[in-house]
Amino acid sequence: MPEISLNGKDIALQGAAPVASTNSAPAAAVHAKKDTALYGKYLVPGEKMTPEALAGYYNRNVEEAKEAYDANDWESPEQMYSQFEFLVEHIDLTGKTLLDVGAGNGLFFEFLTQRGIEPEESTAIDIAEGQIEIVRQRFPDVTAIAADFFKYEFEESYDVVTMFGVAPCLKFIFPEKDRISALLRLLDRALKYSRVGVAVSFLNHNCYLSAEEEGYEYVYHYPEELCTLLSGARYDLSTVHNDLVTTCFIYTHDATGQPFRFDLNRIDSMLNLLK
Ligand SMILES: C[S@@+](CC[C@H](N)C(=O)[O-])C[C@H]1O[C@@H](n2cnc3c(N)ncnc32)[C@H](O)[C@@H]1O
Repeated sequence: MPEISLNGKDIALQGAAPVASTNSAPAAAVHAKKDTALYGKYLVPGEKMTPEALAGYYNRNVEEAKEAYDANDWESPEQMYSQFEFLVEHIDLTGKTLLDVGAGNGLFFEFLTQRGIEPEESTAIDIAEGQIEIVRQRFPDVTAIAADFFKYEFEESYDVVTMFGVAPCLKFIFPEKDRISALLRLLDRALKYSRVGVAVSFLNHNCYLSAEEEGYEYVYHYPEELCTLLSGARYDLSTVHNDLVTTCFIYTHDATGQPFRFDLNRIDSMLNLLK
């Protein structure tokens, strides 16, 4: 099977035609199972990219940054706050129930308080226990859950689900999946738990090309890609309000009042055909 070298590790190309071996390596070595895991280069150098590695990365961040914005890994406070501003311009959270996925150290809750916006009930979930610990200490009224959003089964749904900065982390959750397929899994799961809508932010095309070239672990998307995928949905997409981040609010129901969901299997089949 042909191999490529990624970060110094040899990786068998999935789906590639087998090539007859011409060397005389011992049978056990020839049949040894290849390690196809992706290895981190920037965020978790040398480590396998797994949900646990992601949690470890953000635990280390928050151990240092504590309540400061850099626990959340934005380049500047403006990047982080521009997402929050976009949301409150589009939807009034007063009296609504809120689930903040990938809540980090909870600065979104601080922002809402400063603006005098009071959701009826707030829940935070983050895969990094250290981030959630800060949320518990600073915002005792928020129900704080340390878990992977893709594994935790919520007992209820929420008016609004927010996911700021979660899409860029998808390579750690779905290392084998196409990045579009991974994004749709995130959106679909959030739509399933929302009654009014879902806010999602992602790193955009301004850093996409260099990121691809450098093999950076964060995942990037073009705003145009999202518009295509959301055909049929009701949504508001930010004009790219700063160099790197785009934010989108997707309404749970389409114009005919039906819940908007993705047919993930069909989309995966189409993505496979396009490979
Ligand atoms: C870039 S930070 C953003 C934090 C905060 N939402 C903000 O905008 O400042 C991304 C956060 O999402 C969390 N995260 C990523 N994938 C997650 C998942 N599948 N389940 C729960 N948390 C996740 C990370 O641990 C991290 O704290």
